[in-house]
Amino acid sequence: MGIRTKLILFILALLTAISAVMAFLFIHNEWASISANSQRKNLQILLAMSEVCKEQHASGGKSSAYRYFKTFLKTPEIIKVSCEVPGGRVFMQDRYYTPTPQPFSLSFKKFSPPSTGVWEPRSDNGVEILRASFKARSRGAEITARVDFSTQLISQEMDSSLRQSSAGFFIILSLSFAVGCIGTLIITRVIADPIQTMAEAARLIGSGRLDHRIPVKGKDEMGRLASELNEMAVRLQESDDIRRDFVSSITHDLRSPVTGIELCSDIILKLAEKREYDRIPEQVVSINEHSQRLNRFIDSMLEVSRIESGKMKLEIKSVNLEDLADRAVRAFKTYASQKGLKLELVVGEEIPDTRGDPDRLYQVLANIVGNAVKFTAAGSVEVFVETAPGGQRVRVCDTGPGIPPRELKNIFSKFYRISAGRREYPSARQGTGLGLFIAKFIIELHGGSIGAESAEGGSVFTVFLPGGI
Ligand SMILES: Nc1ncnc2c1ncn2[C@@H]1O[C@H](COP(=O)(O)OP(=O)(O)OP(=O)(O)O)[C@@H](O)[C@H]1O
Ligand SMILES: [Mg+2]
Repeated sequence: MGIRTKLILFILALLTAISAVMAFLFIHNEWASISANSQRKNLQILLAMSEVCKEQHASGGKSSAYRYFKTFLKTPEIIKVSCEVPGGRVFMQDRYYTPTPQPFSLSFKKFSPPSTGVWEPRSDNGVEILRASFKARSRGAEITARVDFSTQLISQEMDSSLRQSSAGFFIILSLSFAVGCIGTLIITRVIADPIQTMAEAARLIGSGRLDHRIPVKGKDEMGRLASELNEMAVRLQESDDIRRDFVSSITHDLRSPVTGIELCSDIILKLAEKREYDRIPEQVVSINEHSQRLNRFIDSMLEVSRIESGKMKLEIKSVNLEDLADRAVRAFKTYASQKGLKLELVVGEEIPDTRGDPDRLYQVLANIVGNAVKFTAAGSVEVFVETAPGGQRVRVCDTGPGIPPRELKNIFSKFYRISAGRREYPSARQGTGLGLFIAKFIIELHGGSIGAESAEGGSVFTVFLPGGI
């Protein structure tokens, strides 16, 4: 059963229950007031009859009591009236009455008689009657006035009063119920439609359609849910792109050195067969470079697995950042001059020793200096070492292609490389996209921070190490 059907059924059940309770309360209250009116009216009739009987007795039976009796008998519920005077004389009058079948009755209780007088239900020739008697004194004698009411007619009278007063109420109740039903259909549509759209979108995204987006309407909970789902799809797409890129680059990164090693060793074999031994060292150097690249790749992968399993530990010693930066600059000097780049270390003040893991910090500096040289086609790379409030800082500034602002937050993610297909990043193929991820982890393990700023025409990477660790 869909969510909309469930909502409709739930609200309809609620509306029905509320209507039933309201109808019950209304009929209950109306019945109480109709019942009280009927009691009052019938008691008044009995007391009036008692006055007639007194009059009858006072006039010694000569009064026009029968004329009054007829007037009483015009009241539909009264079928017999009588006066009993001392000496056993009874003056009475009745009218012909046969009960008719009762229509469906709304009233759920019978008439409850008043407490004045004696009201006794009885059956008179198969007719249900309620006999009301009232004793009064007239000229020292006791006289009894009696009125026989038809039980059925009293009920019918009360029932018709109840029907009249309920008609308006039930019309209003039915209209409200109809409006409630229409409102339910509209509300469930407003609520259920976006849920269905999102369920469908989640199904599509789950089945791999990561480019699917939900139209965001409004800023309410549904709107926010839609934007969250869209953002989730974007992130999934990004990580899917990274994974795809990673698989293709990992295949490339593994294959190209392995193929290089295979080719070089083939050449060596052929050179040996031809006894051209003087050309062999050149191939051995090449094999060595390919092996180093392979090793670097495997080392990075191992490093990531160490980070992820929480096994990376620091060996804290006294270190000098200037010395470490100098080593990193010297390591890339040859590479930079091959590319025609100026690579310089700039230190304007004395840098005191600090504490840290020298190997790990060198690894970080080597990566950011290496990146600067690798991605810069022309110009210079400058490495500044300086003291900063609360610690020391290394800044690596290059005149490379820069990093687009929306990519800045991603470059520290695992395997992230700015699209390897772009012309301005020709060297991207040479990396795994792990260097900055590892660097960030190492620096944060030292309690420091690493960040990048970039504009068209260059990037600046800053590593900050707090003093006194
Ligand atoms: N100085 C820079 N100028 C321009 N882009 C840069 C610079 N430094 C890093 N990047 C971008 O950030 C990406 C991530 O750098 P990172 O050091 O993590 O990986 P890598 O150098 O590609 O590979 P690895 O360091 O693992 O060998 C690079 O691929 C490059 O796209
Ligand atoms: Mg790198």
